[in-house]
Amino acid sequence: MDNAIEIRDLNKKFPNAEFYSLQGMNLSFPKGEISGLLGPNGAGKTTTISIMCGLVQADSGHVQVLGMDVAHNAGSILKKTGIVTQQVALYPLLSARENLNYIGSLYQIPQKVRKEKIAYFLERFGLTANADKQVRHYSGGMKRRCNIIASLLHEPELLILDEPTAGVDIHSRTMILDFLLEYNAAGNTILYTSHLLEEAERLCKNVAIVDGGKCIVQDNIDALKEQVPGIHNLEELFLHYTGRTLRE
Ligand SMILES: Nc1ncnc2c1ncn2[C@@H]1O[C@H](COP(=O)(O)OP(=O)(O)OP(=O)(O)O)[C@@H](O)[C@H]1O
Ligand SMILES: [Mg+2]
Repeated sequence: MDNAIEIRDLNKKFPNAEFYSLQGMNLSFPKGEISGLLGPNGAGKTTTISIMCGLVQADSGHVQVLGMDVAHNAGSILKKTGIVTQQVALYPLLSARENLNYIGSLYQIPQKVRKEKIAYFLERFGLTANADKQVRHYSGGMKRRCNIIASLLHEPELLILDEPTAGVDIHSRTMILDFLLEYNAAGNTILYTSHLLEEAERLCKNVAIVDGGKCIVQDNIDALKEQVPGIHNLEELFLHYTGRTLRE
């Protein structure tokens, strides 16, 4: 099977940190599917994603995204990849439409196409009525929905979302998950992180469970459940592999 993402022996220690954030991280995610990158707080999910997108440099290891090496092709990778960051990355004093127009211009999307796309996504994500309000007045769910649109304007074939449903209500979450299923059905690859394991179980075909900067286990969810006797769901599987010790 063709992989969208291949990560081999990735190590990373931030300059001021005491410990390694990644210690021999190995992962692979297939093309055309929705995969989950799951792990407790501080496991190394965001660091891994940041390296995948070329935002953070690894100390050692290899990362291939869509067949391209991140070390040499970060620009080309970003043209085909949409990143939804864990922290909402929007200008609070601009409206959703202004934020999206600015981001679309960075991708050099022609003005007319940009305007149409923004109108389409604002409607699809239920933001049309508030499109011209400053983002600082938005609810958490509205900010998250707008943050996702910002990653979609250049029609990426790979969408990477770092906790896209954190802190949003059930209506926003249902809308976001429905959209991700639809985006995947159109042939695109999705990698997502979440602490909501029921949600991940519903959405993902494959999961990787990471902890302490390395991958503990990775496979098709059904295969993983079969491998451990007495496991009924992803939450039980997660606790089986990560234990019950509190994290940072
Ligand atoms: N810029 C940084 N400088 C120093 N240490 C960092 C930095 N970024 C992350 N770390 C550390 O690296 C480790 C992994 O962090 P990371 O943010 O990748 O975890 P995560 O799995 O995304 O956690 P969460 O579920 O809380 O978002 C943690 O110990 C964190 O404190
Ligand atoms: Mg994180």
